[in-house]
Amino acid sequence: MESVLTLNMKEKLNLLKSKALQEISSANSFEKIENLRIRLLGRKSGELTLLFQGLPKLPLQERKEAGQLANEIKKSLEQALLEKENYLKKGGGKVSKNWLDVTAPAILPPIGHTHPLTRVINEAKDIFRYLGFTSVDGPEAELDEYNFQKLLLHKDHPARDVQSTYYISEEVLLRTQTSPMQIRYMERHKPPIRIISPGRVYRRDAIDATHLPGFFQMEGLLVDDQTSLTHLIGVLTFFCKRLFGENVKTRVYGHHFPYTEPSIEMEVYHEKSKKWLEILGAGMVHPNVLRNVDIDPEVYRGWAFGMGPDRLAMIRYGIDDIRHFYNGDLRFLEQF
Ligand code: DAH
Repeated sequence: MESVLTLNMKEKLNLLKSKALQEISSANSFEKIENLRIRLLGRKSGELTLLFQGLPKLPLQERKEAGQLANEIKKSLEQALLEKENYLKKGGGKVSKNWLDVTAPAILPPIGHTHPLTRVINEAKDIFRYLGFTSVDGPEAELDEYNFQKLLLHKDHPARDVQSTYYISEEVLLRTQTSPMQIRYMERHKPPIRIISPGRVYRRDAIDATHLPGFFQMEGLLVDDQTSLTHLIGVLTFFCKRLFGENVKTRVYGHHFPYTEPSIEMEVYHEKSKKWLEILGAGMVHPNVLRNVDIDPEVYRGWAFGMGPDRLAMIRYGIDDIRHFYNGDLRFLEQF
């Protein structure tokens, strides 16, 4: 220290610079850099700041030169501090655990989104909610009685063969359709009734591009004293226009289901594959189904439908293989 006192201003400045640069180069944390910045350049008592304060006392010529030098040194120290900081930010040296760079861009957690099938089901629910239908849930393990018998599919009925069934016991099975929800709901509610019931159903089908042993259905049921087949077709056509757009082409033809009379199926024209695709079965609820749940078919009529959300989604998104919906491949899912 003795010798420093005897140095002139320029020498003091140069000495400060070389010591400071050395310290900056060996500083290995953001804290150390920040401490150095304060110690050297701090506004009130930084070492360089103090030297600046001595400048006005110098004779004019020396003051000019020393002033210039002091400014240069200030710049090069600032520069060195900044460079060292960037070096540390890029992972150079050891980063202190306590350092938090609040200016760094935020890292967002990965956020998922609804599955395309869920989305179609939600849209379908919205359309029917708009028409006054309530959505209800039911059990996937169902009684044979509800899945078949009360829908007029008795134990020896040939139409049972179409829906090869997973039985849990003699009386309990994995529902093959959402239609048992018609029975469950009508048993507990009196008309007027307007419900939909989306959910999973199960069939012992071999897996291929259009079949899986588990898939979705959405049941619909309306019971009132004034309704008709044309009302049913009108509602279904409205639904298709809402879901697929005003220009969608639909067609309806006669069919057979044990629990409806008359029965129909509806198809939608799939522009991409230039094919008509069946999306639902429907019909006027059979009077005996109404009798099974103590609703008088002389007073009330009903209609019902069962549609396939997997089908709807395939048409909506132009997907040709149902398995894409279920194998969880992110490359597929992230497109939606
Ligand atoms: N349950 C039928 C199936 O799984 C679809 C169906 C047809 C449901 C006619 C209905 C209906 O409610 O009235 O293929």
